[in-house]
Amino acid sequence: MHQYNILDSCEIILSRIKVPVPRLAIMLGSGLGYIAENLDKAVTIPYSSLPGFPNTTVVGHEGAVVVGLFNNVPILCLKGRQHAYETDDLTPLKTMIRTLKAVGIETLMTTSASGSLNADMPTGSIMAISDHINMMGINPLIGENYDEIGPRFPSMHNAWDMEHTKTMQKSAKKAKIKLFEGVYVAFRGPCFETKAEIKMAKIIGGDAVGMSAVPECIVAKHCGLKVTGCAVISNMAEGMNTEILSHEQTLAGARLAKSNLKKLVENFVPNFAVENKKVA
Ligand code: HPA
Repeated sequence: MHQYNILDSCEIILSRIKVPVPRLAIMLGSGLGYIAENLDKAVTIPYSSLPGFPNTTVVGHEGAVVVGLFNNVPILCLKGRQHAYETDDLTPLKTMIRTLKAVGIETLMTTSASGSLNADMPTGSIMAISDHINMMGINPLIGENYDEIGPRFPSMHNAWDMEHTKTMQKSAKKAKIKLFEGVYVAFRGPCFETKAEIKMAKIIGGDAVGMSAVPECIVAKHCGLKVTGCAVISNMAEGMNTEILSHEQTLAGARLAKSNLKKLVENFVPNFAVENKKVA
């Protein structure tokens, strides 16, 4: 039963960390693991030692929880996620996100390599996710609902937290980075989209496409976490230029955004800590 896994994994994390319980968790997408590399008092806990956590199988997604101080603020990094293209059973993703809630995390920030649907948003850009469209054809909450975790029919109002987006914009300004904002359209993959699918994604209101972010947002919202996210533009979507898309190309494109994402997170983390101080 995955509820037992949640409690066991929560206990392992709390017994291992060497910093106060973090309030912010950051999920690191393909090629974005470097954010976890510069934490002070860092403790790394492989997913394989956390009951119910995903087995990550994709290159660039080593599975580990890293908890430490980032500019003196405790944060929890998730290096690696489970994708909807890997399986029909998203239970490990649910266990991982719900464990965050049990640990005491309040906000999940997702980062994910994405394709741009906007000719003016080039490779290497960062886009704050303001909303999403789920074109995956699945929903991680399908199946039995546990009312003690969240409601059967959760609202997706403010799914991508507007206040956090404002904080991200403020942080981007301070870091002198252009931060785009827009709608993330999630396809299940694992193949990249066709040119016609990209045309559709633009028509229905999308600004970026990707194969992640949305399942974790839904699970996090359901269990009461706030969610914020950065789509890291690793390529122009299919048909927008002559590039042939591949995972290697995604990783190379994500590297172009490396210094900007780092600067953004460096500024966001202290701003988050100030703006989300607990009122005693
Ligand atoms: N499409 C879907 N997923 C992606 C893309 C894309 O163009 N780039 C990175 N992840």
